[in-house]
Amino acid sequence: MTTITHIGDLQALAKKRVPRMFYDYVDSGSWTETTYRENESDLQAIRFRQRVAVDIAKRSTATTMIDVPVSMPVALAPTGLTGMQHADGEILAARAAERFGVPFTLSTMSICSIEDVAAQTAAPFWFQLYMMKDRDFIRSLINRAKAANCGALMLTLDLPVGGQRHKDIRNGLSAPPKPTLANLLNLATKPGWCKGMLGTRRYGFGNIVGHVKGVEDVSTLSAWTMAQFDPSLNWRDVEWVKKEWGGKLILKGILDAEDAQRGVDCGADSVVVSNHGGRQLDGASSTISALPAVVDAIGSRAEVWMDGGVRSGQDVLKALALGARGTMIGRAFLYGLGAMGEAGVTRCLEIIHKELDVSMALCGRTDVQSIDRETLLSHTLPAFCSPR
Ligand SMILES: Cc1cc2nc3c(=O)[nH]c(=O)nc-3n(C[C@H](O)[C@H](O)[C@H](O)COP(=O)(O)O)c2cc1C
Repeated sequence: MTTITHIGDLQALAKKRVPRMFYDYVDSGSWTETTYRENESDLQAIRFRQRVAVDIAKRSTATTMIDVPVSMPVALAPTGLTGMQHADGEILAARAAERFGVPFTLSTMSICSIEDVAAQTAAPFWFQLYMMKDRDFIRSLINRAKAANCGALMLTLDLPVGGQRHKDIRNGLSAPPKPTLANLLNLATKPGWCKGMLGTRRYGFGNIVGHVKGVEDVSTLSAWTMAQFDPSLNWRDVEWVKKEWGGKLILKGILDAEDAQRGVDCGADSVVVSNHGGRQLDGASSTISALPAVVDAIGSRAEVWMDGGVRSGQDVLKALALGARGTMIGRAFLYGLGAMGEAGVTRCLEIIHKELDVSMALCGRTDVQSIDRETLLSHTLPAFCSPR
């Protein structure tokens, strides 16, 4: 049995257990992958201010995210095709999140449907919406999320057109995989994954197939995305979605302070500073470098969260120190899921929680509310963190 000490161990195990096309789908960014890499390396460049002789005997990582009590400020980000990392992946990840006391977000492009996840979990999850041309379908998705008692709607704004990931094109990414010789040879080396898939009926896009007029089969994500995603998406649509939904609205995919202000004007309760994990505009800024300006612009009016490159509790602490009220993780939990199913997602959350708790303690902080810029070593901060 492999000893799992950090998220890198889960990633190595996922690489062994998940078919290549689905592992590559996760471990990739668009074009040169510069932004994908910088999400991580910019976080790594930041240094902590160690403090000693502070009474840190009683500590807590608990807080709230848009009024939802959380055991730590880390939500599971929406990720497409999660049910291809492991059979019934969305259900397993949602269950692990629920037991750990953190929010789970279901992607529009999930394998398990909204109804599937609602039936298999008790805690309200969040639903992520992509704007598509067919507004009747969008309205029906919103109504399905309401019927499933989803606690918030997360509208993703940074995918009006799809960025290109070279690996997905080379691998011919589809769900389920096409029975080509290369795929069959690779699947033969992943017996655990195949066994799981033989035991489930969920291997198409559960929210879409059978719900869109004339769409009986959506095997190729990119082709369907190109045809359906609405490049005319604009702020009027955001207002429309807020009105249709009527509940808590999270806007995801914002890097710019002016856009963040527009988003809050449209009724956002939270804004997620995100570049889609470096999967959309390659060459855009890393999320940690975009965070301080967005916090400055809207931090007093809405919650600012950040995702992208978070691979440890230390990364969470750095985001909080630069003003984020919460964070989200994508790849970290997907590696856990691919490595060990539900237990792997739980292990991922345990690792991040422990790293956050110990790092807070060594910085002399006993609760997340007290984390601020003073938690970081100011003279080593990169230029983007410079004092306001
Ligand atoms: C495999 C994969 C699929 C994703 N699918 C979606 C999606 O369907 N909807 C969405 O809003 N974001 C999606 N994202 C972006 C994530 O929600 C999140 O912004 C990103 O993963 C954060 O970066 P990290 O993976 O470095 O933590 C996806 C990311 C990955 C890695």
